[in-house]
Amino acid sequence: MESQSEFLKPMQELAREAGELLLTFFGKVLIEYKGDVDIVTAADRAAEELIVRRIRRRWPGHDLIAEEGSRTETGSDYRWYIDPLDGTTNFAHGFPVFCVSLGLAHKGERLAGVVFDPTRNEMFSAEKGRGAHLNGRPIHVSKTDRLTNALVATGFPSRNRHKNPNIHFYHQITLRSHGVRRAGSAALDLCCVASGRYDAYWEFNLNAWDTSAGILIAQEAGGRVTNYTGGECKVEDRDVLATNGLLHDEIMGEFRAIMDGRVEGLPSVRE
Ligand code: IPD
Ligand code: CA
Ligand code: CA
Repeated sequence: MESQSEFLKPMQELAREAGELLLTFFGKVLIEYKGDVDIVTAADRAAEELIVRRIRRRWPGHDLIAEEGSRTETGSDYRWYIDPLDGTTNFAHGFPVFCVSLGLAHKGERLAGVVFDPTRNEMFSAEKGRGAHLNGRPIHVSKTDRLTNALVATGFPSRNRHKNPNIHFYHQITLRSHGVRRAGSAALDLCCVASGRYDAYWEFNLNAWDTSAGILIAQEAGGRVTNYTGGECKVEDRDVLATNGLLHDEIMGEFRAIMDGRVEGLPSVRE
């Protein structure tokens, strides 16, 4: 196995290059639709094309999966999860909250991840066992230990929103915290937990390209990340609860109460 640090620098360079490419489109793109409400832009495709071309050239034996359709699946131990533009809806409307997210897994374990926010020039990064960094400085989760004092975040899928139960969770956690933000980029939400800007974040029905980098960054910053029932959040799992660790049990308790039927007519977390 290659030493981990051989990956992080080229990953950062690639995320920066792709983020700068996104900025050349920002404020100028036309919205296209993948479904009724699921947006894609020329910027998503251009950034994916750049990232995939570079990865295939440098690591030709690696597998990859990218949101806009690129796939290499040979059974390699290494697998890249690529979101060329996380926060497409924001981007398409000119709202400056979006990023590039690159995650690398080895034998199904998250190994390295970078998330680059080009509008703030913020590069979040982590390698397994080596801590998390923002622009080269170590970052750590917050110390907030009660939900009532916490700033929390969540997100909603663009597809099948009426079948997603999250509005009920949003309602309950909003009543019990300093508030729940919905900024529109899962990868940046996870990095905000890692850097202590948020105390916790949860979402249902994500994809590994949204979470692979951000979860590792949150874990390496001292956070706890599970699925919504408290089980291990494997690399291709769809549901995420990321907290500073201190709030995890309290939030899980709230989730259990919601799931146990205090909210009537709650849809399943599965689409
Ligand atoms: C979306 C964003 C959003 C989350 C959605 C994702 P995209 O990714 O991460 O915050 O709530 O579930 O699909 O489509 O902008 O890459
Ligand atoms: Ca995404
Ligand atoms: Ca995307």
